[in-house]
Amino acid sequence: MITVHDKQFELYMTEAEIQQDVNRVAAEISRDLKDKNPLFCPTLTGAFMFMTDLARALDFDAETYFVKYSSYSGMSSTGKVKSELPFPQKCKGRHVVIVEDIVDTGITMEAMLEELRKMEPAGIYIASFLFKPNSFKKNFKVDYIGRSIPNDFILGYGLDYDNFGRFYRDIYVVSQ
Ligand code: IMP
Ligand code: MG
Repeated sequence: MITVHDKQFELYMTEAEIQQDVNRVAAEISRDLKDKNPLFCPTLTGAFMFMTDLARALDFDAETYFVKYSSYSGMSSTGKVKSELPFPQKCKGRHVVIVEDIVDTGITMEAMLEELRKMEPAGIYIASFLFKPNSFKKNFKVDYIGRSIPNDFILGYGLDYDNFGRFYRDIYVVSQ
């Protein structure tokens, strides 16, 4: 058990399980995109750890440019998406991989997709370490998923609860 702010969390996924999922996603991306000179656009702040592990598990080198779009406050989505670091002009004509920590309702990702399409990339791919299918209410496809999980609030491995909890190597779920 760990405590972050006012809540207790219990172990949900170990570092070893996480690495297995990362390795599988990296193999899928290597297979599909290695020859397309993809541009990786991980989203700050949550995806920093997944991007780090993904980069080390891919079997090719590639360009990376962090973007920042946020919608969360506390434990629920605000529904409003703010762009703090937008997609760069160099997305034009490139195969762009958006790297996310988690796709929940899909509101954040849909807003990002809208922004990215304006840059006229050659292709758009989404890699999200986690996916909450029961919360998802959009239509886009998440091309690469580490693991689908229930709707419970989790933290660790880049994911936070009010900016804390990101540094844990394992993933924890809030205790009922
Ligand atoms: P969406 O717009 O509802 O898909 O939310 C996506 C964003 O919400 C993610 O990038 C996370 O920052 C955050 N988020 C969603 N679920 C969780 C969770 O269980 N723990 C921590 N952050 C979450
Ligand atoms: Mg996020």
